[in-house]
Amino acid sequence: AQIDKGNYRHFMAKEIAEQPEVVGHTLSHHLDMSAGRARVPEGLDFAALDRLAISACGTAFYAGLVARYWFEKYARMPVDIDIASEFRYREPPLNGGGLGILISQSGETADTLATLRHCRQQGMQIASVVNVPTSTIARESDVALPTLAGPEIGVASTKAFTCQLATLASLVIAAGRARGVLGADDEAELVGALIELPRLMAETLKLEPQIEELARTFAKVQDALYLGRGTSYPIAMEGALKLKEISYIHAEGYAAGELKHGPIALVDEKVPVVVLAPFDNLFEKTVSNMQEVAARGGKIVLVTDAAGAEHAGETLKTLVLPSAHPFVTPILYALPMQLLAYHTAVFMGTDVDQPRNLAKSVTVE
Ligand code: G6P
Repeated sequence: AQIDKGNYRHFMAKEIAEQPEVVGHTLSHHLDMSAGRARVPEGLDFAALDRLAISACGTAFYAGLVARYWFEKYARMPVDIDIASEFRYREPPLNGGGLGILISQSGETADTLATLRHCRQQGMQIASVVNVPTSTIARESDVALPTLAGPEIGVASTKAFTCQLATLASLVIAAGRARGVLGADDEAELVGALIELPRLMAETLKLEPQIEELARTFAKVQDALYLGRGTSYPIAMEGALKLKEISYIHAEGYAAGELKHGPIALVDEKVPVVVLAPFDNLFEKTVSNMQEVAARGGKIVLVTDAAGAEHAGETLKTLVLPSAHPFVTPILYALPMQLLAYHTAVFMGTDVDQPRNLAKSVTVE
């Protein structure tokens, strides 16, 4: 069937708006919601695995980075991760064991496919997280875990990303349970947090008018910094990537604690600094990095929740998201990143769905 934009101006806007629904579909595929359990994918025995290797390109790679934090914390698994174009040539000693996880919306990205084949040759079992079930990567995997985002047309990935995260989150729970790291109560708690997520995402999307207003400012800047710690760090990088891809504004995503080792030199009153800081156990540290920015005249955009907003001090703008379980905040905080990039690009008049020099699926290495 022909896919159209409906009442939206761009596919990207439509795809951003669809996220509560498609993440909900994806979760109901991977979770047994009424039992409060994650479904264990057939053919994966996490208790017998001693290591994971994760690889992907672009936005899918950032989903992998979030998953690394999750697999380490909730399943106590060592994770090796790199972008596919590097992983393939690093010659890591894989020693014939473990599971390789490849993440790809299209399932056709050449670098990711080459890495899959490399891992296979090294004797690893292969799982993939893919949005196109008939794709080459899905077909060459031992276990293909579907994201049910539906066709994604906008070149800048949005709904595929949050569905990748939803799929990986479900997989982490299954792994943690199989390995005896998570008890039944822990599992029910994490599954419960995921079940809540589509509703929280819908609530977060209501911040759109505020974000559109903020985008007026962004459309006038030359550079922007994005900071986060823990699972907010990959989301900061994804926020910067989204802005670069569609608005052509130079942006960097950095670990909040690394700011003082270099990028702080860029900070002045012309550079907005987006700080991703849900009120979790890392909040105080991130806020102290934020104050380093403020002391140098940097304009802070704080993305947080109600508790965080109360403890934050002065900012150019504070976006208050619904409070959520720390497990799911990276998925939620991706949404304002997408909306900010989108509205900035719309103000700048760029070709949002088909940005210059980029392809939806890159089939050359
Ligand atoms: C291209 C797209 C990105 C995407 C990346 C990986 O560069 O422009 O949006 O994240 O490829 O694509 P994949 O289909 O493997 O997820």
